[in-house]
Amino acid sequence: MAYYTSNEEHPIDIVNIASLEERVRARMDRGAFGYIREGAEDEWTMRENTRAFNDRTIVPRVLRGISHADLSTSIFGIDLKTPIIEAPSAAHGLAHVKGEVDTAIGTAKAGSLFSMSTYGSTPVEAAAAAAPGAPQFFQLYMSKDDAFNEFLIKKAVAAGVRAIVMTVDSTLGGYREDDVVTKFQFPLPMPNLAAYSESDGVGKGISEIYAAAKQDFVPADVAKVKEMSGLPVIVKGIQSPEDALASIQAGADGVWVSNHGGRQLDGGPASFTVLPSIAAAVDHRVPVIFDSGVRRGEHVFKALASGADLVAIGRPVIWGLNLGGAEGVTSVFEHLAMELSITMQLAGTKTIDEVKRTSLLSR
Ligand code: FNR
Ligand code: LAC
Repeated sequence: MAYYTSNEEHPIDIVNIASLEERVRARMDRGAFGYIREGAEDEWTMRENTRAFNDRTIVPRVLRGISHADLSTSIFGIDLKTPIIEAPSAAHGLAHVKGEVDTAIGTAKAGSLFSMSTYGSTPVEAAAAAAPGAPQFFQLYMSKDDAFNEFLIKKAVAAGVRAIVMTVDSTLGGYREDDVVTKFQFPLPMPNLAAYSESDGVGKGISEIYAAAKQDFVPADVAKVKEMSGLPVIVKGIQSPEDALASIQAGADGVWVSNHGGRQLDGGPASFTVLPSIAAAVDHRVPVIFDSGVRRGEHVFKALASGADLVAIGRPVIWGLNLGGAEGVTSVFEHLAMELSITMQLAGTKTIDEVKRTSLLSR
């Protein structure tokens, strides 16, 4: 059956990021919306991801001589206009006919950084070509077949990606009930899979796709991906200091603190809850990227003040894509940057480095 979705291309009016979800619900295919919205099981961890930002507070500071905030920062020598980056997510074709081509364009226009998912609706080289010169990462779901891993990584390297994001928290899918109710199966092909194997993901649910990938990750796989790519490798899906240290020990060039937006292990802590202990263990040896539940500029501020070097958003980018295409994606980044600028000004911090040196107050 044909799959229809948005083809809009315009900036979007945003009151707040969270309110975008219901605007998308009203206009997106029920199965696709559920797949994007859902967390695992009772979705307690998904809700906790956003709630937990209230556990630590920002003390306003005055007489600091600040007239505006400077959001610029960098990672691996890549200059960014904002510390807010896009979190890799599958199948942007569910949200917009242009898929990740528009996400890449909109993210680049915001001076941010896009990561193509292995399970994207767009070939990695097409997303790179859509935003020439803009920094991009490639998010790898390793296959059981190392020849496939090599093929995919070489394809991404040839496309000019700057790092590989190695996702290790999805060796199987969390139990996601919207997909059970709607019997969700991907309606569109995953060209980065199809380029190597006959299976392009069409007509499969996410659990089947995960099952076809690799499950038995070990630290040596980090070195293998580094060897295959010759690029920095960021290990994504870290929720414990022990795993962060094991990743660095194995050669990781970055740690991505994430619980996959609550889509994997329900009953786990909010990603923000575990960030401080992980950042303390990493102790600035490699960059720390943080995601899960970020919906406000103050959430970005608190994550940066708790040890993150960059903060990523997942669902909000997809919402912006559906509502306005590339310009909708840019609108989402610009809205969050506006909120972050206000928070920084009122907290008496001019630069991202000053934010990172800020101490939060536990409630
Ligand atoms: C994801 N996420 C994800 N992560 C990843 O490494 N590869 C992937 O292909 C996907 N796919 C995906 C699809 C959808 C629909 C969602 C919502 C999420 C997880 C993503 O990178 C990120 O960790 C979370 O989305 C962050 O939480 P928020 O910002 O969505 O609350
Ligand atoms: C998900 C996968 C694609 O969360 O990471 O749906």
